[in-house]
Amino acid sequence: MNSHGLSLASLASEAKPLAPSFGLEFTHQSLANLVSNHFHELYQALIRHKLLIFRKQDTSPKQLIQIAKAMGEVQRYPFSSGIEDYPEIVEIRKEPTQQNVFSGVWHIDSTYLDSPPDFTLLAAKQTPLVGGDTVFSDAQKAFSALSEGMQKFLLAEKAEYISNKFQDAGKKASHLVNFTEIAMANTYFSASHFAAKRHEETGIPAIYVNDEHTSRFSSMSTEESAPILNYLFRHLTRDEFTARVQWENDTIVIWDNRGLQHHAVNDYFGELRVMHRLIIRSGQR
Ligand code: SIN
Repeated sequence: MNSHGLSLASLASEAKPLAPSFGLEFTHQSLANLVSNHFHELYQALIRHKLLIFRKQDTSPKQLIQIAKAMGEVQRYPFSSGIEDYPEIVEIRKEPTQQNVFSGVWHIDSTYLDSPPDFTLLAAKQTPLVGGDTVFSDAQKAFSALSEGMQKFLLAEKAEYISNKFQDAGKKASHLVNFTEIAMANTYFSASHFAAKRHEETGIPAIYVNDEHTSRFSSMSTEESAPILNYLFRHLTRDEFTARVQWENDTIVIWDNRGLQHHAVNDYFGELRVMHRLIIRSGQR
């Protein structure tokens, strides 16, 4: 209990669970107030529940930056220089006439970087009337459902993560505003990370290989890796590991990439969807 009388348990009791193993939805809490006055409890709730949803929030750039900075080091997304005056805030914008969607394949954000973000903050600026959900999978629960042999293999084996696995040569990701020179030059990023990783703060292991970025296991060819990777990518999508976040304008969601994978659902052709995103390296790791 802190000086303002709010414990983690009482904070969590004000929220509705999203799924049996992850996610809490707050309808009557100001995220900015929690950041200022109950940061420890907020942070513990995020680490324990992996994803927090806040409705009817102030989603101004100034507010988003303030919240993100309290969580840790706000990272620059290499492919977009962000919105005006806020280089760390990336606008993900799908126009009514666009067919494809940004982040439509299951992934963990920016795992092709040597230091990928721990947290992502996503704020809904303009949502379709229906659809445009983001689906999440509990990669820790999915890991715990694997055989002991597979768990040991994944914790000991490295894999290769690349930024352009699904990107045609010479084609930049659409839906981003203000491309960086890196994006214009079609440069891609790659990194090696373990195929499953223990969370730095809780020690809980999670499947880290993800469909959008993982090309192969480091000690195997792409062809040799494919059957195991495809098994894992399918395994992660089992109903009992997944849940959908339904957006409304001015919803803010923060999630822990070390425990979850996600993708955006492409089912709202003809409508505009605009999101503001920040990626963060935890200040507590
Ligand atoms: C993302 O993967 O970063 C964005 C997800 C979304 O737009 O729902």
